[in-house]
Amino acid sequence: MPTPNISGSAGKSFRRAVSELDPKQAEAILSPRFLGRRQSLIDDARKEREAAVAAAEAGECTDPLVFEEKDGKAIVNLLFSLKGNKPSSLSRTLKVFETFEAKIQHLETRPGKKETGESSDLEYLIRCEVHRSDLSTLMSSIRRVSEDVRTTKEVKVHWFPTKISDLDKCHHLVTKFDPDLDLDHPGFSDQEYRKRRKMIADIAFSYRHGDPIPRVEYLPAEIATWKEVYSTLKSLYPSHACKEHREAFHLLETHCGYSEDNIPQLQDVSCFLKERTGFQLRPVAGLLSARDFLSSLAFRVFQCTQYIRHASSPMHSPEPDCCHELLGHVPMLADKIFAQFSQDIGLASLGVTDEEIEKLATLYWFTVEFGLCKQDGEVKAYGAGLLSSYGELLHSLSDEPEVRPFDPDEAAIQPYQDQNYQSVYFVSESFTDAKEKLRNYASRIKRPFAVRYDPYTVSIDVLDSPGQIQSSLEELKDELQTLTTALSILS
Ligand SMILES: [Fe+2]
Repeated sequence: MPTPNISGSAGKSFRRAVSELDPKQAEAILSPRFLGRRQSLIDDARKEREAAVAAAEAGECTDPLVFEEKDGKAIVNLLFSLKGNKPSSLSRTLKVFETFEAKIQHLETRPGKKETGESSDLEYLIRCEVHRSDLSTLMSSIRRVSEDVRTTKEVKVHWFPTKISDLDKCHHLVTKFDPDLDLDHPGFSDQEYRKRRKMIADIAFSYRHGDPIPRVEYLPAEIATWKEVYSTLKSLYPSHACKEHREAFHLLETHCGYSEDNIPQLQDVSCFLKERTGFQLRPVAGLLSARDFLSSLAFRVFQCTQYIRHASSPMHSPEPDCCHELLGHVPMLADKIFAQFSQDIGLASLGVTDEEIEKLATLYWFTVEFGLCKQDGEVKAYGAGLLSSYGELLHSLSDEPEVRPFDPDEAAIQPYQDQNYQSVYFVSESFTDAKEKLRNYASRIKRPFAVRYDPYTVSIDVLDSPGQIQSSLEELKDELQTLTTALSILS
């Protein structure tokens, strides 16, 4: 153990100062107990400095990382190991929490960093709530009795895909509106229809990322249903659909096999979208869980049904089908700004709580599914739920429903209707405006990290350290350099 520095000139002045004191005070100050205290403070300072250096080397923030702060209380995740792996040191450490009235919310052990091979080499993670003003002192006190004390941003977050092939794990279906289970489904009593549905669903179940999407040879009865839906809706698009939908629809008819006598194949449509906006389709067997569905959007992947609605109900389907996807969603996904808007919702959903997922799914509902927008002084439809439903498309642009300006905070909690027409719609000033508002909303969702999509590796970068952010900034600098060069060429 190092001894306190009382030699040299500083030592002389210290001794002189002590000698001028009352003899009892002088004795107390020079006693081993006092020296121990002095040494302890030096030790503390050294440990804090070492911890700061270690944190800086690890690219961590040296201030305690507060995960949540409310009413003067902070919630922190503390990691530490025991001094000499002595069990008694655990009780001393826990005593510190008790002294500071820190409420322990979670405690776990895990294998320690030091690879000694000893079973006792454990690291402790404690999540606790403590008065914000006590936080630094709490940390210093723990450092006196434990080792390698640090705060961490670590928090239990929902697993989420970080590479596109991870989407093979994101296929949790919701059984709502299933023709095998829902008595009200138009196909419930039609065994042939259910058999056909199962056959098409199997394509989705066995699909893996990178496979070409198998083609479906649609039956004449299915094409007849498609024809009825297609021709009826097409007659409304010139007056009711937004400009972006109309333009893409024309391209799809020209290049992608869209016609009233042909149900386009998902593989062809996927290739078309990939060239336009980088979006691609992936076959899905039915209604996905909101978390899985939204997470695929983060990779510009749209989970797309391949079956068609029951022939007895061509103008209404209680669940998504290829009419809804191909006529409603696909043309919109061919627009660059709308594609970015859709991906932004997906990126915002990664790793967030169930409560936030519900809000984002509702936000998706009132925009991507049932959104309206202003164009050339008129209100037009851009939501796929509207552009694939003759009745609701007419209803949404009539005087009947209430129409409100798009506000993500409001739309995220607005009660919605999945059995009937909506009573409220949100109208955006433009897709750019909607995108900006959504980004602002997403930036306020609590998450201990940010995410960034890497189009080169088609993966998600989790930005949770200065090093990660620095590397993303470098890439951004390169892109800015390209644009600056382009500008200088033009000027
Ligand atoms: Fe949809």
